[in-house]
Amino acid sequence: MLNEKINFGILGCGMISDFHARAIASLEDACLLGAADFDISRAEQFADKHHALKAYASYEDMLADDEIDVISICTPSGFHAENAIAALRANKHVVLEKPMALSKEDAERVVRVCEETGKLLTVICQLRFSEDIARTKELVSAGAFGKLAFCNLSMKYWRSPEYYAGGGWKGTKKMDGGGALMNQGIHGVDALLYIAGEANLIAAKSDTLLHSIEVEDRAVALLEFANGAFGTIEASTCVNPGFERRIEIAGTDGCAVLKESTLEKLVVGGKVIIDGNKEEIAGTANDPSAMGHELHAKQIQNLIRAIRGEEKLLIDAREGQRAVRLITDIYEASK
Ligand SMILES: NC(=O)c1ccc[n+]([C@@H]2O[C@H](COP(=O)([O-])OP(=O)(O)OC[C@H]3O[C@@H](n4cnc5c(N)ncnc54)[C@H](O)[C@@H]3O)[C@@H](O)[C@H]2O)c1
Repeated sequence: MLNEKINFGILGCGMISDFHARAIASLEDACLLGAADFDISRAEQFADKHHALKAYASYEDMLADDEIDVISICTPSGFHAENAIAALRANKHVVLEKPMALSKEDAERVVRVCEETGKLLTVICQLRFSEDIARTKELVSAGAFGKLAFCNLSMKYWRSPEYYAGGGWKGTKKMDGGGALMNQGIHGVDALLYIAGEANLIAAKSDTLLHSIEVEDRAVALLEFANGAFGTIEASTCVNPGFERRIEIAGTDGCAVLKESTLEKLVVGGKVIIDGNKEEIAGTANDPSAMGHELHAKQIQNLIRAIRGEEKLLIDAREGQRAVRLITDIYEASK
């Protein structure tokens, strides 16, 4: 396999699949071989647009193709666990869009099938590949902020009624599994846990304030981190026009404030390193497609190198499980 390209097939040719196709195209050692979708015409159009060789008539046909090494799963969230398990059992490696599953039990099943088959699966948590998020994590790990008092995450986003009306699956319990947290907010939750480590849930509340959907459009949670910090999570899709995501890490000896994925403030040991990044930061506060494909590309590159035995896989199924666990705990606590 060394020096040969790794061949990808994409399942589900909607909004996010475009980012996967562009990420794959940007990597020298990856090739998009084909695509499949529930709706064959979408697979054909997608294959055409991205110069992929094949539009498969079904997922089974794509899985049966020995030339495919990796399946990128971009279907509605309620299909993720089953789609991933089918790919692993068909001897494929997997790139699995978030959330990896809609329940702890399904997430655990995916973990077990990875272990049984020995195939590699990475759950998309693209924010971990942002330089400033990684830098903040390193500083927390090194104790650079002293004793941590607070680790807070705020995601007061806006999604329009038209957003929920489109596609037929968003905002449904069965296919979205949750709202502001399980869909939009899971990136921030994963980044917070990545930066600040394990957390116990103390209390939570979620409800549906505005939208006609089956899942929450706002949620709040109180946490206590293993490192001693208190934490909060706020998430919504009903705040118009929406604020950028903020993560604030505050300790006895410094702080870090991330606006979207960029450090806006950084103070270490009383020394101000960054103060007030005035750059306009594009974000997904009110537009889910307002992002680049570059972080997806970094994560897929890591999977390719892990397949080749050159690097450790950074975000495997166990890592992907962390945010799903906390979010489902928040839903339970809010009942
Ligand atoms: N990482 C990110 O930043 C990010 C951003 C947006 C969406 N997502 C995730 O990507 C997934 C897809 O979201 P989207 O916005 O692209 O959705 P979408 O509705 O735009 O696209 C879904 C596609 O899957 C197809 N499909 C539906 N059921 C299928 C099935 N059983 N088998 C094969 N194809 C099927 C649909 O025909 C459609 O083409 C979701 O799980 C979402 O959470 C991730």
